Amino acid sequence: MSRGNISLYCNSVLCPSLFADPFADLTITSPPYNLDIAYNSNNDALPYNEYLDFTRKWMRNVFAWSKPHGRFALNIPVDVNKPEHRSIGADLTRIAQDVDWKYDATIIWNKNCISNRLAWGSWKSASAPCVISPVELIVVFYKGQWKKTGGSGISDISRDEFIDWTNGLWTMGTESKKRIGHPAPFPLELPRRLIKLFSFVDDTVFDPFCGSATTLIAAQQNGRRGVGLEIDSSYCELAKRRIEAECFQSEETPRTDFPICCVADGINNAAMIDPVIQRATVQRADRSDYVTN
Ligand SMILES: C[S@@+](CC[C@H](N)C(=O)[O-])C[C@H]1O[C@@H](n2cnc3c(N)ncnc32)[C@H](O)[C@@H]1O
Repeated sequence: MSRGNISLYCNSVLCPSLFADPFADLTITSPPYNLDIAYNSNNDALPYNEYLDFTRKWMRNVFAWSKPHGRFALNIPVDVNKPEHRSIGADLTRIAQDVDWKYDATIIWNKNCISNRLAWGSWKSASAPCVISPVELIVVFYKGQWKKTGGSGISDISRDEFIDWTNGLWTMGTESKKRIGHPAPFPLELPRRLIKLFSFVDDTVFDPFCGSATTLIAAQQNGRRGVGLEIDSSYCELAKRRIEAECFQSEETPRTDFPICCVADGINNAAMIDPVIQRATVQRADRSDYVTN
């Protein structure tokens, strides 16, 4: 699908030949956390080693699709505790560097929600207490060098925003799954801040796990281009409706029928020119190459 400055592909991030050339100035993403969430099209309960292999593959692809000074903001929990306790934040930060991303900084997202605690482990006893972190990480990486060159060179961040957001503790609430209709959306404020802090106006912002399209909406609303990948066709349809409602509502004739660049089923190896990234993308059909199940 292409609409305004947004392109959405119904495809897998594991498909290495999807984009012929590097195009992303800034990648913002929140991958599946392997917490057994009922996504429609991917298994979110992989054995941990397989999850780490999956991570290595997609991070490598995102690296290849990023421009020479591309940046990458990864939203991930500090840890997960089911089925086992794992330091997922540390493990994915290590893997990103193993596939050549350079580390810049970590922002702590304080979700401001001490949830209804039921899982205390051993209540008021040192035998096996359970610690839960009400925060997530946004780990920032870059390719090549940190200093940005190229692009418009235009920043649109205000003085107060810059002072606030370069303080690496961001407090913002979570997004409602019910309101959005997706099992794990992040709040629009999260990509909005990252976009204004780390990209120039007119840059291309990429989300390889775009779900309900939050990152793409923030990109369009803030004068950037957005490219999204989402493996599940029903989330792509949801993304299209959300993009239309949140970015183009004021237009006289809202459109909900525009196509998605979709290769979920049929055979289609034709190269197409993406209007947003203005270069060829290659659509492949053999899902067995890249679907995790
Ligand atoms: C944590 S959610 C992202 C939610 C998104 N940030 C939002 O605000 O809506 C992860 C998404 O990745 C998608 N996904 C899982 N495996 C994928 C793959 N191999 N390629 C592309 N998308 C995938 C899932 O369907 C899910 O929508």
